[in-house]
This record gives sequence, C-alpha cells and structure tokens, in this order.
Amino acid sequence: MSGTGSCSSASAAGSSRPPAAAGGSGSGTAAGGSGAANMAAEEAQLPASRLQLTEVETTAVMVALFRSLAAAVVARPDGSPYYDGSYDTAIVDACLPASERAALMTGHAVSMLPFIAVRTAAVDRHLLAALWGSGGGGGGGDASSTAAATPAASTSGRGMGGGGAVRQVVLIGAGLDARAWRLPLPCDGGTAGAEGGCTTVYELDSGAVEALKARVLGPLPPGGRRRVFAAVDLAAPGQALASLAAAGHDPHRPTAFVAEGLIGYLMTAAGDALLSGLRSIAAPGSVLLLTTPPSPAWRDELAAQGAKLHHVTYEEAEETLARARAAGWEAELERADALATRYGVPGSRFELIIGRVGAHGPEEPA
Ligand SMILES: C[S@@+](CC[C@H](N)C(=O)[O-])C[C@H]1O[C@@H](n2cnc3c(N)ncnc32)[C@H](O)[C@@H]1O
Repeated sequence: MSGTGSCSSASAAGSSRPPAAAGGSGSGTAAGGSGAANMAAEEAQLPASRLQLTEVETTAVMVALFRSLAAAVVARPDGSPYYDGSYDTAIVDACLPASERAALMTGHAVSMLPFIAVRTAAVDRHLLAALWGSGGGGGGGDASSTAAATPAASTSGRGMGGGGAVRQVVLIGAGLDARAWRLPLPCDGGTAGAEGGCTTVYELDSGAVEALKARVLGPLPPGGRRRVFAAVDLAAPGQALASLAAAGHDPHRPTAFVAEGLIGYLMTAAGDALLSGLRSIAAPGSVLLLTTPPSPAWRDELAAQGAKLHHVTYEEAEETLARARAAGWEAELERADALATRYGVPGSRFELIIGRVGAHGPEEPA
C-alpha cells in the first residue's frame, strides 16, 4: 500500500478494470472459492490503519488478494481455471502495490491459497446450480459448463425452486465479492428480480469497501442484471434484514443466500439470529451457502504460525451445521475430503454448508 489510504473508497485508483468487466460481457469463466481459506487468507497481516478500514473490513481486501492469486492454484482436468481472478486482481491493484502484496504472501497465507480456490469454486458451483438448475451436487454449476447450458436451462424449468426460478441473490458480508460482475447470472428479460427476469444481487456489508468495488468494476453489472447494496450491521440481524427488505428483496420468491467468510465474525447469538432471520425470508426453493468459522484447533494452529485472527466464534463445522438446522434450514455439510477430491487439492480443509428450503416454505409470522 502507498500509505495514503489508497484502499479507502475515497481514494481508490479505480482505473483498471478486468477484461470481462471492461468489455461489458461480465461472463466469468467458471466457479471459484475459498472456505477454510476464510481463515488464513483473511487473517494475514494487512495494516488496516493504512487502508482506513477496520480490521474486520480489511479481511475483505485480503480475501480478494488471495482469491486473485488462488485462481491459478487449481485447474480443471483440461487446464482451464475454475474461476476468473481478474476481477479480484483489478480491485487489489487499486489497493496494494505489487511490492507490498508480495510481503503479505508469507507463511500461513501462502498455504491458504488452495483453500480459497476450493471455497470460491464450491460456492460458485452451488450458486450457479441454484440459479440455472442441475442441482448443486452434480457436475452442473461450474461456470464454464453453465455458460453453454444457459439457454436450455432457462427454458426447461431447471433452476426452478418450489416458489419459481431463483432470480434473487443475497451476498451477506459481501466485501469485495465480484460475483455480480464475474458470474454468468440468468437474465431472461423482464424486470430484474421478478420471476423469469434478470437476476438481482443484493449485497450487505458495512459499506467501507463498497465504493471501491463499484468504482473499480463499474457501477452496474453487465447484461441487465441488477445489484443493490445496503450498508448494515450484521451483528444486528433484525435491522440488517429490514434494510434488505427496504432494498427490494422479495421474501415470497426464492433466494440464493451466500454467507461466505462471515459467520465467524459474529457472536454466536447474532449468528443464530441471522440464520433464523434468513430462514424466515426464504421462500420455497431458496438455498443458503454458508462457510464455517475456524475450529478452535485450527485457530491455535494459525496463531502458532503468527496469524492474527479477528473472528469471535470458533467452532467445529458440525456445530455450525447444527445451528443452521436449528434455525430451520434443511442443511447438509459438504466435507473437506470430498471437496478436496473434487477440485484436486489434497489437504484442503474447506467445508461448506448447503441449506435448503423445501415445499413448506418460510415460517409464517405469528
Ligand atoms: C472475510 S470478509 C469476506 C467477504 C466476502 N464474503 C468474500 O468472501 O470475499 C468478511 C466480510 O464481512 C463483513 N462483516 C463482518 N462483520 C460485519 C458486520 N457486523 N456488519 C457488516 N459487515 C460485516 C466485513 O466487512 C467483510 O467485508
């Protein structure tokens, strides 16, 4: 970093755009992700004061940095990347000079790249499967295959939940997530957010990095899709979800909720309230993609390697899974070994919780 607060929204360079965004196509090449990467990558020693961000907000920058590098870590059997890292690269270029970036790539941070790659790929895959169909567990959903399959998918009824096609995405703790630009989100014409229409991506975060992201990537995603940002405090889930409703989210239509690298930054009670609140606005066919906090053992391991953690909740994945189920989600855990095998990354510790809403739909308010 330059020492001038270059990563703050007010002073972001904003001149560099990834090829896809600059070209207006916005269609990413594939899936990508990070989960256990939630940890190490997020906890590298980025000097928050120079970014004019809080320490927790700074984790969004670190994730973008690691995601940009992790895109090259894993590849499909044909050699193509699972996701397009150029969006993250453009954002990071606006914040971190290459010289300072290299200094961050030490110790545990480097070891987190495979983790971030798997997290991005896995979340992308399930998100695209929810939007386009083909069920999250199958091969469909990787962006490369989805791009080719989209016309058929949009007319064959795939991607339809019990409450209709999923055309709402909510990124909870969105940070510098560029999926609104990067992924080939459905846009079937009509009104954004409406059934059969273009996808609306709602993004919830504290707001500190939002202007930077919009400035670097452009104010609007391509292809008619819509993006709506709401500044919220997710530690107060009731107010945050009221802001989401005010922003236009329709609880009577299915939604794909993504809470990636977030829940560990909330106290357990707030996390539980958030999971319950999301379930209460999740129409039939909705999906929750929830990454798990570091386990206590992992926390200790990272701390021994010099990582400074900012999470407030540390627990086993099974505990997070139980919390999601207690909140009313039909949740399953995609385990680390299965994900590591799928993406050819032996030893990746990333695990993902997939929550669903069946035909019974959201609970009616009392
Ligand atoms: C590790 S980053 C992950 C960002 C994004 N989901 C990703 O994977 O790239 C955590 C994000 O959660 C946000 N966050 C954490 N606690 C929050 C709170 N109480 N209210 C609003 N945002 C919060 C931070 O600002 C940050 O952008």
